Amino acid sequence: MPKDFASMEDSNPSTAPDLHALSDPARRVVVGGGLAAALRRVLAPLAGLASAGAVAARRRPLLGFDSVPTSVADTVVVPPGYVAEVLIAWGDPIGAAAGQPAFASDASQGADEQALQSGMHHDGMHFFPVSATRGLLVTNHEYVDDGLLHADGLANWSADKVRKSQAAHGVSVIEIVRRRGGRWHVLRPSRHARRITATTPMRIAGPAAGHALMQTALDPGGTQVLGTFNNCAHGVTPWGTYLACEENFVDYFRAPEPLDAHQRRWGLRASSGGWYRWHEHDERFDARRHPNEFNRHGWVVEIDPFDPDSTPVKRTALGRAAHEGAWVAQAPDGRVAVYMGEDARFEYLYKFVSRDAVRPGGYAANRTLLDHGTLHVARFDADGRGEWIPLVAGQGGLDAEAGFGSQGELLVKTRQAADRVGATRLDRPEWTAGDPRTGEVYCSLTNNRARGQAGQPPVDAANPRAGNSMGQILRWKEDGGFAGTRFTWEHFVLAGDPANERPEARGNVRGDAFGSPDGLYVDPRGVLWIQTDASSTALGRGDYARLGNNMMLAADPVSGEVRRFLTGPVGSEIAGAVMTPDLRTLFVNIQHPGESPGDRSDPGAPTRHSSWPQEHGAGGRPRSATLVVRRRDGGVIGS
Ligand code: FEO
Ligand code: CA
Ligand code: CA
Ligand code: CA
Repeated sequence: MPKDFASMEDSNPSTAPDLHALSDPARRVVVGGGLAAALRRVLAPLAGLASAGAVAARRRPLLGFDSVPTSVADTVVVPPGYVAEVLIAWGDPIGAAAGQPAFASDASQGADEQALQSGMHHDGMHFFPVSATRGLLVTNHEYVDDGLLHADGLANWSADKVRKSQAAHGVSVIEIVRRRGGRWHVLRPSRHARRITATTPMRIAGPAAGHALMQTALDPGGTQVLGTFNNCAHGVTPWGTYLACEENFVDYFRAPEPLDAHQRRWGLRASSGGWYRWHEHDERFDARRHPNEFNRHGWVVEIDPFDPDSTPVKRTALGRAAHEGAWVAQAPDGRVAVYMGEDARFEYLYKFVSRDAVRPGGYAANRTLLDHGTLHVARFDADGRGEWIPLVAGQGGLDAEAGFGSQGELLVKTRQAADRVGATRLDRPEWTAGDPRTGEVYCSLTNNRARGQAGQPPVDAANPRAGNSMGQILRWKEDGGFAGTRFTWEHFVLAGDPANERPEARGNVRGDAFGSPDGLYVDPRGVLWIQTDASSTALGRGDYARLGNNMMLAADPVSGEVRRFLTGPVGSEIAGAVMTPDLRTLFVNIQHPGESPGDRSDPGAPTRHSSWPQEHGAGGRPRSATLVVRRRDGGVIGS
């Protein structure tokens, strides 16, 4: 997101207490030992490993590649023996029809072309295999840089520019095939190829559907909505659908004056809407005229990637938040648990548990499964235990008197409900990911420089560093499986640079230094992949002076070793990772190469900070893209 909004950075040196006084080594050993032992028990027989690739790799050390050094180069660096190639970049045709327009590197194309091309700022992503050599790759396009999107940037702002911006948001579905030599290609045309954008018709389902707070002039019934945007990370259901999560939706709405308490709690402010400027030509985004449209965003959207004619559905039972991601696990009794971080300072971690078990028969048999269940919010206690607190209207003080007249109303006001039940305010919870075999779940808390500062919440057990510039990764395991309501937690790692001058920015990484963990992915071998997103104003200075560009690392969940696997081009973040089932291809997204300190590129000098990927269309402008990473010998990635 633009730093101007939800994650404003500062470099205020703090007077944090000594790190070791807060992250109790004794507790860490006790908890870590218990979890590590459990992991070893599960890993020892290697029963139930997901693929032949995993079995082939079982006797080798989990991490088998040579670490790459930090980098400030405007290129992608992978370990010796690996190759990284661009599969599809912003503006490349997705193949929804024959003869689609190729990308014009001067950004002179309009909304109609953009609606048939890959969107901007690739983020969460999943690969749905169809066979060993074919599948669907689904990718979120989080936001846009109008300085790159339009030939003349924000000048002559118009309805057409708003339409192009809306068309560059959302989700892409592309069909890809693997040809000889292991290289993947986009299949064009493909009947599956599809763009979902900020104007695609969608249905609203679950308890908030139809609620008065969801009704607008365009949709008096409160059950239909146009579009999804600011889709950050994602989730995947056991029945084969994709969950796109709506993160910083508030930044798209022009705020009314004065703001009411609900609008304030969700971050609407005088400057809202001023970055994307959609409201100037699309009145839906002017909350002065349509105050409830804003309530119809901030949801998790279920998409059937295999049916290009299907209507995406906003699943309100999962709660409303600045949703980062939604990792889905299945409990022993067949119910699903959906873990969701809300990436904003001092926000929460949520878990939805479905009422019903998954039924065989794919999406057709599970079309309402995410509409019934219980949303919870996490409390992390200082003794290494934690609890999922239910957010149910009428329970625990969440009643009409408190502003929660129904479950629908509560879900629209999920943050306010979480505020009332004593949930733990976290250091910007980003991705969630887990290992279904071990029951371990992770959440990256990317950073929070405001923690412990004057007038801000103090440090606590889960958020132990004031002026937290580096971030941490939480790990927990539920009592009784994923549907449980109690858990045991620890810090898997406190990110940092051991050479840092500030003790509280050194962290406790066993291995390669990093900061601002964001994307997480647990591969079928159990390797935890960590992707970083330090902002362009943080990179290369202060606590980040020695860390170079953003990066992707692999972590051994048992030993805790962290090894740097990939470094990105200048100004990029690394976002989104998924492997093919044979573990021989890794897809990785490079987001916003060349991001300027002001977050908006100069259309007169679009390559001032980066021109990556140069090899994928000469010159022009930097482009977010999906990479294919392979081993030259065709081996298992990371082993
Ligand atoms: Fe879209 Fe929290 O990163
Ligand atoms: Ca970013
Ligand atoms: Ca993110
Ligand atoms: Ca981030």
